[in-house]
Amino acid sequence: MGRRDEDEEGGEEEYLFKIVMIGDSAVGKSNLLSRFARDEFDLNAKATIGVEFQTQVVDIDGKEVKAQIWDTAGQERFRAVTSAYYRGAVGALIVYDISRRSTFDSVRRWLHELDTHCDTTVARMLVGNKCDLDNIREVSKEEGKALAEEEGLFFMETSALDSTNVQISFEIVIREIF
Ligand code: GTP
Ligand code: MG
Repeated sequence: MGRRDEDEEGGEEEYLFKIVMIGDSAVGKSNLLSRFARDEFDLNAKATIGVEFQTQVVDIDGKEVKAQIWDTAGQERFRAVTSAYYRGAVGALIVYDISRRSTFDSVRRWLHELDTHCDTTVARMLVGNKCDLDNIREVSKEEGKALAEEEGLFFMETSALDSTNVQISFEIVIREIF
């Protein structure tokens, strides 16, 4: 469960949920997060080193929900300490790049790592990013959908570049947790 704080003055409730982003390097995790949190996109983004996070307040049916979204490097040598990264997570976005088959093939490995560190109640969304690159697509939407169904995940194709489905992907995960 997420943390639930009581505000001492007004008795207002506040919810804080930790969500982790995982997937191979260069699939667009950091750009999905910057698009969601700041409506920014960087074509020349550098690979993430270590871990970064953003806190985003989302309105869910009139309730303020704070999502703390964690982003780490896809590259093994730049990754944060794995157990610390996953600790307390209640949601996860597993991201691949629809124009690079190898990143889709890695999804099961990422799911396995997630299962090793989190319990099965974590809300999980499979994200096929870079759907703007349809002309050089290597993974069909049907394949993505099929894998998601098999593994019991939500599924969405997104583009951090043109903003397609970015907001909704995060919101579905947050809503599911909430
Ligand atoms: P690591 O930090 O190394 O794990 O990579 P990452 O998954 O955070 O990828 P990042 O967000 O740094 O993006 C990698 C490259 O893909 C950058 O050049 C981005 O500009 C590009 N990119 C990200 N999202 C999209 C997208 O939706 N469409 C297109 N065409 N390019 C994208
Ligand atoms: Mg990154």
